[in-house]
Amino acid sequence: MHEFYSPTKIIFGEGCASETAPRLREMGATKVLIVTGKSSTASSEGFRDLCKGLDAAGIQWVHFAEVSADPETSTVDKGAEVCRANDCNAIIGFGGGSPIDCAKGIAASIGEGRPIRDFVGTGLAFTKPVPPLVAIPTTAGTGTEVTNAAVFTIVDEHGHRSKKGTSSQFYFPRLAIVDPLLHMSMPPSLTAATGMDALTHAIEAFVSRFHTPVSDMYCLEAVRRIGRSLRAACRVGSDSGTGDGAFGAGRGLKASGSSSSGDRALLEARSDMALAATLAGVGLSQAGLGMVHGFAHPVGAMAGLAHGLANAILLPFVMEALIPDAGERLSAIGEALTGKRGTRAQEAVRAIARLGRDIGIPENLEAANVPEAFFEEILADALSYRRRKASPRAFTDDELRGLLARMYSGKVEA
Ligand SMILES: [Fe+2]
Repeated sequence: MHEFYSPTKIIFGEGCASETAPRLREMGATKVLIVTGKSSTASSEGFRDLCKGLDAAGIQWVHFAEVSADPETSTVDKGAEVCRANDCNAIIGFGGGSPIDCAKGIAASIGEGRPIRDFVGTGLAFTKPVPPLVAIPTTAGTGTEVTNAAVFTIVDEHGHRSKKGTSSQFYFPRLAIVDPLLHMSMPPSLTAATGMDALTHAIEAFVSRFHTPVSDMYCLEAVRRIGRSLRAACRVGSDSGTGDGAFGAGRGLKASGSSSSGDRALLEARSDMALAATLAGVGLSQAGLGMVHGFAHPVGAMAGLAHGLANAILLPFVMEALIPDAGERLSAIGEALTGKRGTRAQEAVRAIARLGRDIGIPENLEAANVPEAFFEEILADALSYRRRKASPRAFTDDELRGLLARMYSGKVEA
């Protein structure tokens, strides 16, 4: 027996962000809370167009722009307060995974009439319907626009930070608007890290003990698109400088050909990635994740590594450790990723590592400057990962200790 439940309507395509206002009107929205990050998204052309569209449709809007990476529960509370104080009757999450997750938290908290902290890491479930929620991703990674999950950072009284995933059927956005044009301003390093996050979702959900024939379909198609397009998506457009070099990705790779054909190729690659991330999101919402995310959450929370980058570094190590238990599944991943029939599990792991190297992902945690001093805390957090049971191998605590040691200073051959 298996189930499939993915209630989010998806609108996909170049320029489809212009659909936002009319669709909100259909939902009866008259005043919308727009949740974004603090930085560039809010000053982007896409954001300005969104606001203009709402104005033209006679929909009032309030902008909550206080979301930083991996939003703290206190930020969600602030946003809920702004939403309540302004009588907003719909919510838009616009940006990367953090603002969209924050928008989900605000919606759930408004529905329940309680602070989000009551539900994070406590086992308490949401039971009440939420205001209409629209997700507009500007990165191709988390897939949160179509999932029942959201991740928040809890800061305890000693200042200790931990990232906690929560899930609820009420987190599924009513509508996901996936417009690849909004992804064109991503610098190469962000494209690389978020793209590897999407790959991690597709692979972890595919090898998950809870995978189904339906989730498999979404995951494999996501892997196939990522295999053919992530490298090209990490190139720089003719008008976007020479890359940001945050961790070396891109390094000035220029889109090939003349500038207009190069830009077209870049748009096609980013479009492929945008759809892949959404497909992988559907896959993970059905089948769950595994120990790559189990380790990536504490690595991110403690060392401040971006979520996608942490996953990208850890993915080949976990997959290598899963070869004895998920060999056939890894072969299928390898075939989808490389397009070569008969790819063996070991070759699949190498192909994953090679893709990471090609787009500038460091080969281990040491190379990403994650301090050795965090080892025990990262391990303790990973051992209590709520989705540990989805792993196709029931890793013992000792095995996970050995795996983390390898993630710090080992190397997976590419
Ligand atoms: Fe993720």
